[in-house]
Amino acid sequence: MYDLIIIGGGPAGYRAAELAARGNLKTLLFEDRSLGGVCLNEGCIPSKALLYSAKLYDYAKGGAASYGVTCENAAFDYTAAVRRKDRVVSMLVGGIESSLKKSGVEILREKAVIQGRGENGFSVNSRHATNLLICSGSEPMMPPIAGIETAMTNREILALTEVPASLAVIGGGVVGLEMASLFNSAGSNVVVYEMLDKIAGSFDREISKMLQEDCERKGIVFKLNAQVQNISELGTEKVLVSVGRKPRTEGLGLESIGVHTERGAIVTDEFMKTSQPGVYAAGDVNGKFMLAHTAYREAEVAINNMCGKKDMMDYSAIPSVIYTNPETAGIGETLESAAAKGIAASETKLPMQYSGRYLAENDGANGICKLVFSNNRLIGAHMLGNPCSEVISTLAAVMHARMGIDQIKKIVFPHPTVAEIVKEAVYHA
Ligand code: NAI
Repeated sequence: MYDLIIIGGGPAGYRAAELAARGNLKTLLFEDRSLGGVCLNEGCIPSKALLYSAKLYDYAKGGAASYGVTCENAAFDYTAAVRRKDRVVSMLVGGIESSLKKSGVEILREKAVIQGRGENGFSVNSRHATNLLICSGSEPMMPPIAGIETAMTNREILALTEVPASLAVIGGGVVGLEMASLFNSAGSNVVVYEMLDKIAGSFDREISKMLQEDCERKGIVFKLNAQVQNISELGTEKVLVSVGRKPRTEGLGLESIGVHTERGAIVTDEFMKTSQPGVYAAGDVNGKFMLAHTAYREAEVAINNMCGKKDMMDYSAIPSVIYTNPETAGIGETLESAAAKGIAASETKLPMQYSGRYLAENDGANGICKLVFSNNRLIGAHMLGNPCSEVISTLAAVMHARMGIDQIKKIVFPHPTVAEIVKEAVYHA
């Protein structure tokens, strides 16, 4: 008998298991693939490793010339980059496994199926527990396009060992843009098909446009308002489908305990509780933000509540980043989304060149920082320019603390850093 059974060992599941063990809950975790989930094995981490190799190659083949550094006969050994990516992934996966084992979490390498609830609590693959935490993640959506079964998803594209001569990307969201950026740098002819009138989903419209222009300068072709009917009409060597993900709830046995789902996602409240007492869900399976960092926090909230410590999920300050080169990052409301919600808001925008550090390190790039305020409080921030994936953490802290403009002005930023752009922009508000 366990205190807790966790289904799924991705970011939500392994974070929850670590915390549960620390809280002295006897914990069993089921994972039928590799620990670390999509993020670690076929998403966030492998893509970042390869994108870093691509960035170095961009510099080597000419991007570094304006900085006084040239390199003759620059070459991209993609197979070597993939080997390095695999080493990074296996180090991290190994780290999770040993840390879970050290903290006393039992791990079963099986597909978990919930069998019901009885006198011994919840039953999963004939093991029993008082509490259940479902972290079964998500899987790629496959749109009804003829021949879609021949297209790659994030999993197959990150396992390629050679660079295709040409690549069509269906869906100009996060995955599509990162993979377009990677393979464009590596030498593929890349065309992105996006059904909306802009790329990068809910990212700020002006920033999406700037990012698109930057990608176009590098040779990526965009087809907006595009509906692909048949994969064969694309005429490229490889096709990636990246039109979003859907929660993995089929075959879990949720019906045996009556957990409420909507459009395939487990419905959770702000405590990560489901419709059934003792059953929690965290991560992509609830279909809310589908980001690894949201999953970590949701797992913390679930375990804290399970251990009797009241904790609530706050979705108002969740940052998101697209790791193209240059990166783009955003958090909270854009002026457009605030207007749609009837929130009176104003915006301040500054070119990233206001930061001395940015100027020193980013030749010819097109960066911007936009802050959105309402009632003297920051309600959104949107940036294009390296390394805004790091700067956005400062803004997440500011928004989480619900700081007013006067408080932000009192923060001392190290100089020279790109993050100083935040203070500069606040003074321009
Ligand atoms: P996404 O939701 O970011 O983008 C999908 C895009 O496909 C949208 O722009 C949508 O308009 C478009 N689309 C949908 N159907 C289409 C069709 N039939 N033809 C053409 N375009 C179509 O989804 P994506 O990129 O697949 O990413 C999946 C999830 O993984 C997201 O939740 C994302 O947040 C997460 N992720 C996050 C990363 C990060 O934080 N850097 C990296 C990779 C994934």
